[in-house]
Formats: sequence, C-alpha cells, structure tokens
Amino acid sequence: MAVMMTSLFLLSCGSNPSAKTGNLQETKAEEDLITVGFSQIGAESDWRLACTESVESAFTTENGFNLIFDDGQQKQENQLKAIREFIDMDVDYIILDPITEEGWDSALQEAKEAGIPVIIVDRQISVKDDSLYTAWVGADFRTEGDRAVGWLSTVLASQKGFINFVHIQGTTGATAQIGRTEALKDGIVNHNRWVLLAREDADFVQAKGREVMEDFLKRYGSRINVCYCENDNEAYGALQAISAAGYRAGQDIDQGEILVVSFDATRQGLRYTMDGSISMNMECNPLFGPKLTEVVKALNRGEAVNRITYMEEQQFVHDDALQSFRYDGNAYPLTTVTEDVLAGRKY
Ligand code: AHR
Repeated sequence: MAVMMTSLFLLSCGSNPSAKTGNLQETKAEEDLITVGFSQIGAESDWRLACTESVESAFTTENGFNLIFDDGQQKQENQLKAIREFIDMDVDYIILDPITEEGWDSALQEAKEAGIPVIIVDRQISVKDDSLYTAWVGADFRTEGDRAVGWLSTVLASQKGFINFVHIQGTTGATAQIGRTEALKDGIVNHNRWVLLAREDADFVQAKGREVMEDFLKRYGSRINVCYCENDNEAYGALQAISAAGYRAGQDIDQGEILVVSFDATRQGLRYTMDGSISMNMECNPLFGPKLTEVVKALNRGEAVNRITYMEEQQFVHDDALQSFRYDGNAYPLTTVTEDVLAGRKY
C-alpha cells in the first residue's frame, strides 16, 4: 500500500520529496521494501551532508528499503509539510531530524493516528506526549559541551588574569545549541576568571560564523582570548575572520593568539585541528544510517527497541602534551590529530 501511494505521488507531483526507489516499474519487488520517509533539516554544514549521505547509503533498495528524502532547507514549516506528505503517502516509518525541539506535537499526533511510527534522529524534540515517537538516536550534546568546557578548564588553569570568551552559537532552540550553550554558561559561572564578552547565533553556517566573528573582532579586537564555536562550519568562518582582521588562531593566549574550540570533528575541522588553528574539536558523530536501519528492521520484526541510543564520540586536540584530563570526576581521553587520523575520517 505504502509503495503504491509513493509511486502515485511521484508520478503526479514530481520529485519533492524525492524517492530513492530505483526503477519505479519494478513494483513487484518494491512491495517487499520498507518505505521510510526521512525529513532532513537541510544542508547547512559539512556534518549535515555526512549525515544525509550516511542515511541514504544505508537505506538502499538492496538493503530492503524505499527511502523518500526531503530537504527541509533549515525551515521547520518545510519539515512539518514533509511529515504530512509522508502520512498522505502512507509510508511505513518516518524518520525526523528536527531543526528545533519545539513545535512537533500536531504533526506527530497525525502520524500516530495514521499508525506510522516516528523515529527521531540527531536533535531531540520536546512533546507533551512521549508516545508520539518510538525511538531517538543521536548525540549527548550536553556531554559534548561539558567535555569541551572540561578541556578548557584544564588548559586554561595556569593562565593568569581574566580570560575573555566570545561564543558563536548554533541555531537557537536546536538540541545541539542548547546542550553546548548550557555547558559554556555553566563553565562561565563556575570559573570566576572566565568572562563572556558576547554571544550570537550563526545558525551552524560558515558565512554567518564569519560575519559574527568579524563583528566580535570589531567590537573587542585583541581582548578576545577564546572563541567557542558550536560547529566546524562556524569555526571555519571564524578562522577566516580572525586571519582577515590580522589576528592569529592558536593556543598561545599570552602571545595574543585566539584559542578556537569547535564541535563536529569533520575532516576539514580535523585538518584545522592538526595545524593548530582549532585547538580542540569535540566530535559529533553523524553516521546514523546503519543504526537507524537496525532500529527500523527491529520494529518491522515486531521487536522492542531502545528508546534512546547515544552515538560514541571522541575528543580531538592539536597538542599531544595532554593525553587525557579529568573533569567533574570523569576521565576523558584525548586523540591527537595525525595524518593517520585524517586518513581514517570518512566525512
Ligand atoms: O545537530 C548536529 C549539529 O547540526 C552539528 O554539530 C552541526 O554541524 C549541524 O549542522
């Protein structure tokens, strides 16, 4: 049923959402496929592209799936529309990567009433009724932030005087922004020599990261010691702004360098970490595809699945002097970026 409606939709409405169905005439074989509608946030970052690629390469016809992909172009209204289109198509499952946490109750209630299980990936949602989704797979963003702050706390401990931070945030209201921001806010409260000069949303996008950092540099110039970026693309933009304004990124604050912290640990982000432009890069693992197929296949067999699954993540540094650190009673290992580490990075 789901497959037939998908095909009808595609024939009458073109390719948005676009189906990864292969040959549409092979309806017989397609009847055995599990149809999954995937509402992706957009294509705002290198990390996001890796996430999309991971899902697309796992949900293939060879693997038993008919994937219908929709790019929400960083707008919640587009994602809500996609969910409703998936319901009209009577897909078997919906996977939602939600741009922000709020605002999903009505659309997911409609999915529930249509009997379509919803799996949330990457960021989380805040809904009144938890039964509106079956499972969530993603990162522990608050822990990512705490690990970044814990590392900063260790490396800045010997620094004399006040340490001035600027903070480039991700999309306001996204779980990745909330967790990473809360961690830094607490870090500032708990370190009486850490001072926040400014904080601004750059939407996880490189061009906005650059604009925001240009503005910070105009306002505060050489007073800036640490730039806390909530993803790699913002960090690339911040690095462009730092060098264009005649400053240097690095870990030697006493020599006027600006210490840049980032999240994601994409290949390009790790390249900058290896050359020292980014001093610490906290990984956010975007390779959800295989885990999501396991979840959908288990549900399809009528098995129970974990409601929450966290991805494993590493913490990367440029400087191999520190191999690990302790923070809040926990020990965290650090991985120094080398050519071998870079060669092993898929995205
Ligand atoms: O939700 C994950 C975040 O979203 C990643 O850190 C970022 O790069 C992406 O755009």
